[in-house]
Amino acid sequence: MDEKSEHLTGLSSIRNAHEANSTDPVSAASAAQADSGNGNSDSLAIISDIHANLEALTTVLEDIAKRGIRKICCLGDVIGYGPNPLECIDLVLENCQFTIMGNHDFAIFYEPYNFNTAAENAAFWTRQQFESDPDKPRRNRRWRYLGSMQTRMLNDKFLAVHGSPRRPINEYIFPDDIYSATQKLTGIFDRVPHLCFVGHTHVPGVFVEHPDFYSPADLDNRYTISSEKAVINVGSVGQPRDHDPRASFAILHADAVEFVRLSYDVNVTVEKVRSIDALDNFLGQRLLEGV
Ligand SMILES: [Fe+2]
Repeated sequence: MDEKSEHLTGLSSIRNAHEANSTDPVSAASAAQADSGNGNSDSLAIISDIHANLEALTTVLEDIAKRGIRKICCLGDVIGYGPNPLECIDLVLENCQFTIMGNHDFAIFYEPYNFNTAAENAAFWTRQQFESDPDKPRRNRRWRYLGSMQTRMLNDKFLAVHGSPRRPINEYIFPDDIYSATQKLTGIFDRVPHLCFVGHTHVPGVFVEHPDFYSPADLDNRYTISSEKAVINVGSVGQPRDHDPRASFAILHADAVEFVRLSYDVNVTVEKVRSIDALDNFLGQRLLEGV
């Protein structure tokens, strides 16, 4: 039996153990506040959709560290599309309190679902990278981490999913849905206790129940938390699609959600994509344009 098969056999027990041990990041962050004079120590950085973009991820992690933020969570799609899946999963594994399973993480561990050819080829190439690491303990650690990702996380502050509260792995919540799919949004908000953090579309912003959508620019990069329900998309670290190529993430403060954008050396990532035959050149080109 190979490592992945062994892992699949033990998956449910690993997942149960993982869920039982998963830390409530907000409570943990609050506890950490007492021994730090930094005003950000009780904040939580929320990252998503890294897509194996090491240059973007390291830029974001360095910025989070500089701000004195101690807790990070990830909303999935750590891998898929990009050229550095092993380095990115190792960094997320070491730095994040928990990671939600995205559709690309699912695709590499289980199978691609509803993928176009470029995405499917990238998924199979990524799986091959996981399998070809000769270091067996390291290889198994990555498979175990990937297979034990939760599909949702709920605490007393927020719900976190990759896609939507209805279909956590695969459903997209698009800004245009406020005009064209209001019933869909009603069904989504019915499942939102107060705040819900999502990724998946790679477009940051805030949905409210009216329904309406506010981009970070509409909000001057800061959404003030009130009693209203909100679905907050933190955008994408490694493949933004809002015509802004800078890496995107969000910070949950006590009273607000702050949206952050950071420039990184995108040309390095684009060159890496070009040098790997299995990765379509478009996957690099789109990073330059943020689409
Ligand atoms: Fe994604």
